[in-house]
Amino acid sequence: AVEQPVIVERQGRVVIVTLNRPAARNALNTEIMLALADDLAVLDRDPGVGCFVVRGSKKAFAAGADIKEMADKTFAEMYSEDFFAAWERFAALRTPKIAAVSGYALGGGCELAMMCDMIFAADTAMFGQPEIKLGVIPGMGGTQRLTKLVGKAKAMDLILTGRMMDAAEAERAGLVSRVIAADRLMEETLAAAATIATYGKAAVMAAREAVDRALETGLRDGIAFERRLFHALFATADQKEGMAAFIEKRTPTFTGK
Ligand code: HXC
Repeated sequence: AVEQPVIVERQGRVVIVTLNRPAARNALNTEIMLALADDLAVLDRDPGVGCFVVRGSKKAFAAGADIKEMADKTFAEMYSEDFFAAWERFAALRTPKIAAVSGYALGGGCELAMMCDMIFAADTAMFGQPEIKLGVIPGMGGTQRLTKLVGKAKAMDLILTGRMMDAAEAERAGLVSRVIAADRLMEETLAAAATIATYGKAAVMAAREAVDRALETGLRDGIAFERRLFHALFATADQKEGMAAFIEKRTPTFTGK
């Protein structure tokens, strides 16, 4: 049997997405890109799916874009294919996605993690944007997302020197949400994902959309955007259920309606 480069499993309302090219340190080729962009789009629209968890192997979350696939391409090919453009479809998924990073998250691997809503890092995680060593620059959003997430000082340091940073430094820099002992990474990540997946999906989607908007807009516009989404959630049954359950001192049951 041919090994699938991406394994997708459902665990209740959580979908676990495992990059499965361990021998290539999960180098991200076109096949993986399209699996993450297109196959997950179907699950994204499924009301039964409340959260994605994206993981690699113990040793490597992903060691970057597939250098062997890219090496011989010409400018004309890169430009006309709009190489890497499909990654934006993965980034645009509206269901929350948590990157569970163990081992190397380099280049496109670090950029893939940053396309997720949160990064939970094993204490073994190593992050970096080493593209400069290959004669190029980050090409899956790294110069933009890393700078927004950790600021210019750290982004320049990593992108210009190509060095790696460990999980502790990544947490100090604000890149990762939590650092977790490697052997507990999946347990804790899946627990967080399961919690998120119990909430009303519209509220969850609105929450992540509003937080993301903060990276793109000024405070006044961002607050107006948030307020409109907040108002809109009063059109959902989940808002009525959530508030009624609080008042009646019971656990709410959200239906995504
Ligand atoms: C293709 C890769 C790869 C990659 C590793 N491999 N990373 N193949 N693309 N990004 C392959 C190796 O060629 C090797 O294949 C096998 O995986 C195992 O790799 P090793 O180096 O032997 O493993 P290890 O010693 O454990 O070192 C792991 C590593 C190292 C530190 C992650 O592999 C590494 O530095 N990889 C490259 C990291 C990098 O430069 N990433 C940025 C890519 S560019 P064989 O066949 O020999 O077993 C990018 C965006 C580009 O992401 C954007 C601009 C266009």
